[in-house]
Amino acid sequence: MSTKPRVYVIVAIEDDLKEQISAACDVRYIAPSTARDELHAIIHDAEGILLTPRVRADAAFFDAAPKLKVISTTSVGYDPFDIPEATKRGVAVCHTPGVLTAAVANLTLALIFNVSLRLLDNEAFVRSSGWARREKPPALGHDIQGKTLGVVGYGRIGQEVTRRMQALGMKTLWYDVFATAHPDAPKSERRSLDELLAESDFVSLHTNLDASSRHLIGAAELARMKPTAYLINTARGGLVDQKALTKALQNKVIAGAALDVLDIEPPAVDDPIYTLPNVLCFPHIGSATEETRRAMRELAVENLLAVLAGKRPPAPVNPEVLT
Ligand code: DGY
Repeated sequence: MSTKPRVYVIVAIEDDLKEQISAACDVRYIAPSTARDELHAIIHDAEGILLTPRVRADAAFFDAAPKLKVISTTSVGYDPFDIPEATKRGVAVCHTPGVLTAAVANLTLALIFNVSLRLLDNEAFVRSSGWARREKPPALGHDIQGKTLGVVGYGRIGQEVTRRMQALGMKTLWYDVFATAHPDAPKSERRSLDELLAESDFVSLHTNLDASSRHLIGAAELARMKPTAYLINTARGGLVDQKALTKALQNKVIAGAALDVLDIEPPAVDDPIYTLPNVLCFPHIGSATEETRRAMRELAVENLLAVLAGKRPPAPVNPEVLT
């Protein structure tokens, strides 16, 4: 019988990472599509679990794995995990901040460029032979330089987006629940959320999703934005009241939105949001580059193995359990 800690891996990982885990752990692999009940029946002896945010880790999940010491996710977001419940049970939750900052910032920039320069409209015009048929091209775009970017959530990704957009000549504002920016953050003006919404030409969301930030942007907040402004969301769909956003876009309360995330992913086939003419919608690709995803898996494995070896992991969410 193995004396190594039992670990379950519910995410596809490369062979070298599998070898790293099996050198220290008695590891089993579970298909990511496994139903919740079936999963709970399997993990009864788990000490560590490597997973993604597709797995909901709530009280029932922790009940199913009473020996659990660590869950390590291959994501920076941990909104599907009940952190107070994990902490109460002494389970460390680890995530992957930092390694995806550039990728998400890049996507945010791409979305800002796309909505302001109407790149996809113009590409569709050419692809549908509109140009060849000498039809009227899409309306002109707008300059980015001189416009105001409001960053909601001034952590790593919000700061990186600010840095990059300042280099392109944008004025930047930030809002967060904390009043003082990190000393390394680029100099940018702090505003209340209401002020930021009213002053910005682009509002970009970069905050965590939790009970306090769910539906941070609803009908009242959208109504505060300029009718010419765009909402950019590469963070979490739940930050926005999607019904209110759909209505605001239909009624042209704001000019448009570029969304990499939705409240329910994938959306229902009859969800109107992704077919509206003033929306660009992408299937949660913020970290979807080969290099970034690999770095996230590496960090997640490092986190997992560190906790099981009694060492401090590089990126704990609830460090208080690691005494
Ligand atoms: C993250 O890491 O949280 C990204 O959104 C991918 O899930």
